[in-house]
This record gives sequence, structure tokens and C-alpha cells, in this order.
Amino acid sequence: MNTDRSDYRILVVEDNPGDFALVEDFIFEQIEAPVIVQAKTFKTAKEILTKKRNDYTTVLLDLSLSDHAGEPLIHEIVELCGDIPVIVLTGYTDFAFGVKSLSLGVSDYLLKEDLTATSLYKSMVYSSERKKIISALETSEQDVRNFANQLNNALEAERSRIAREIHDEFGQQLSGLKMSLSSLKKSKGVGHDIEKLIDVLIVDVNTSIASVRQIANELRPVLIDKLGLFAAIEWLVNEFENKNRVKSQLYKDTDWYGIDEKLEINIYRICQEALTNIAKHAKATLVKIRLENRVDQLSVTISDDGRGIKSSTLHNPLSMGLLNMKERANLIGAALNISSSSDSGTLIELIVNKNGQKNINSR
Ligand SMILES: Nc1ncnc2c1ncn2[C@@H]1O[C@H](COP(=O)(O)OP(=O)(O)OP(=O)(O)O)[C@@H](O)[C@H]1O
Ligand SMILES: [Mg+2]
Repeated sequence: MNTDRSDYRILVVEDNPGDFALVEDFIFEQIEAPVIVQAKTFKTAKEILTKKRNDYTTVLLDLSLSDHAGEPLIHEIVELCGDIPVIVLTGYTDFAFGVKSLSLGVSDYLLKEDLTATSLYKSMVYSSERKKIISALETSEQDVRNFANQLNNALEAERSRIAREIHDEFGQQLSGLKMSLSSLKKSKGVGHDIEKLIDVLIVDVNTSIASVRQIANELRPVLIDKLGLFAAIEWLVNEFENKNRVKSQLYKDTDWYGIDEKLEINIYRICQEALTNIAKHAKATLVKIRLENRVDQLSVTISDDGRGIKSSTLHNPLSMGLLNMKERANLIGAALNISSSSDSGTLIELIVNKNGQKNINSR
């Protein structure tokens, strides 16, 4: 913690000379040889922070400047400050606004009439420590995210490899076996009983070929590569309906080609988990899937009329399937919203920006 009371370089954004003098006195009372620079307008503060942001350790901000004020002022200053803590000093006695300003990225909110040298100093020390901790947390969160990204890519690559092996190796061998059985059936001296047995074996081999295709396709849906995401989801929904006998309505507008492969596989996996969850847990009678190809965005919604997800389960960090859906959405910068109730079932909404830009609602 910076308690050595030196190396404080403070930008005071304040147009009132009396208030500035008071703040200056308080700072000198607590800190050795501080550097204090005054910006009387937002324009000046902006110039200073744009050119020499790193020269400062703390910004003290008055909320009513002649050229800017209130919430819009906070937005711009916080943006300009980056990692530098911003402490709001104000005459506004609006407690609710004070709390809100903290959610806008301000480190602390102090009322001028309650200000003392000690409270100001304490706030500066705490704010700078808090900023350091937050920035360390953000870095480690980013590390975890990068790791999750790599893990997911590796997982998909491995699934593709296994799917290819299963399809090409087993698939070919079974096809070979089927041809041999057919030839055997036609060979001389094969009696009626053996022929019947061969027919049974051919049926078994056909079933195995279908299973191999099914397993390979579940590991890596070939339809994505061949016909695109919408067709692959259509297949997924058909499979879901046939296997689970739950009425499913799929609405899709124009298909979307040329979508980034990473987006496709992650959107597909999210739909896959959502439908698997409905099959396993929802006890639904109707499922609606909607795929919309908008100008800049792709929207996917999956709703069921089942028993809903309990709020505690929805927010449980151990719900790995749900967590994985959120993580995948996050990897592609998409917004994923899951809303659920026991009356109306579960609604999952995924909004993906086509240009790959991060969606505002995504973490
Ligand atoms: N559509 C749904 N309707 C009702 N309950 C659901 C639905 N989706 C999920 N749940 C509930 O949320 C829980 C967590 O889901 P999640 O997908 O994380 O785990 P899981 O499906 O139980 O296991 P996993 O996905 O890891 O195989 C489920 O156990 C279930 O209770
Ligand atoms: Mg699940």
C-alpha cells in the first residue's frame, strides 16, 4: 500500500477557486511534496489526460464544470483515466447518484462539506489500492479466458480428429465387411440357412455403419462444413425431435454463409447443450427454435415450456453445462441470456455480432 505519503501526482478537475484552495491545503497537510495540477474545465482536463495521463496517480473530479457536468462528465473522465483512480468531490447530496457513480467506474464519491484532510487522504490511498487489485483481477480473468479459449480450440480440433478417424477407419472397414458378406452370399455352395444368416449379418453391419456415422457426426457435425450452420442446427433439431418425441418448431430465415468457423462451432455447441438439457431436464411438450439472420447480428432463441431452471441452479458456478454455454458465448463476444420460470419454462437468447465485435452485454 502506498502509505509513504510521497509520489502523489494529482490532477484536480475543479473550476471553483475556493474549493480548489481547500483541496490543495488538505493534500499538503497529508502528503509530502505532492504534485498538484489544476484543470478548470473539462476541455483542459481532456487535453492533459489525453497527452500525459501517465504523469498522474489520482484524479479528483468536481461534477459541475462550466463546460460539462454530471453523469456524462463521469463517463468521459473515467474513460480518459484508464487505470488511474477517479475520486468525485461534489456538493451534490444525492446519495443514490453517489452509489451510481461507483458503478460508472469512479473509485470513490466524497461530499465537499464533509471533506477533511484525513478522509481525502484515506480515500486516495484506498482508491489506488483498489484499482491495483481490480487491474490484477482483470489480468488474471483474461488469462483464464485465454486458457479456456485455447482449451476449447484444442477440444474441437481433437473431436474433429477422432470423428475423422472413426468415420474413415471404422466406416471403411465396415463397408468392406458388408461387401465381403454380399460376395459370400453370392458364392457357390452357400445354402439357404447360411444365406439367411448372412442377411442378418448385413443388417447388423448396416446398423453399425449408421452408428459410426452418428457418433462421428455428434463429435464434429459434418453438415456445418458442407451446408453451413443453419442446416446443421436443423439436423440437430430433427434428431432431438425424433429421439425425444418432443414437438419442435424451427423457424429460420435466410441462411448465413461465410460465417467464421469459430463462431459456427460455438453457436452449434450452445444449441446442442440447450437441446440436450431440455431432453434431460425440462419435461417440455413444445420447443421453439428461432434463427434470425439480421443485418449485423445473428440471433438464436431456444424456448421450452418445461418446468424451468431454479434460480439457484441458474447461478450455480458448478452448473458446468450452463457455464460452458456462457463461456462459449463469451469466447465469440456474444451475449447469452437465460431466463426461466416454473410457469413459462426456459428461454435462451444468443445474440452474435457478425463482425466479431464484442457484444455490449457479454462479459
Ligand atoms: N431447459 C431446462 N429446463 C429445466 N431445467 C434445466 C434446463 N436446463 C438446465 N436445467 C437445470 O439446470 C441444471 C444445470 O444444467 P447443466 O447443463 O449445467 O448441467 P447438467 O445438464 O445437469 O449436466 P451436464 O450438462 O454437465 O451434463 C440441470 O441439472 C437442470 O436441473
Ligand atoms: Mg447440461
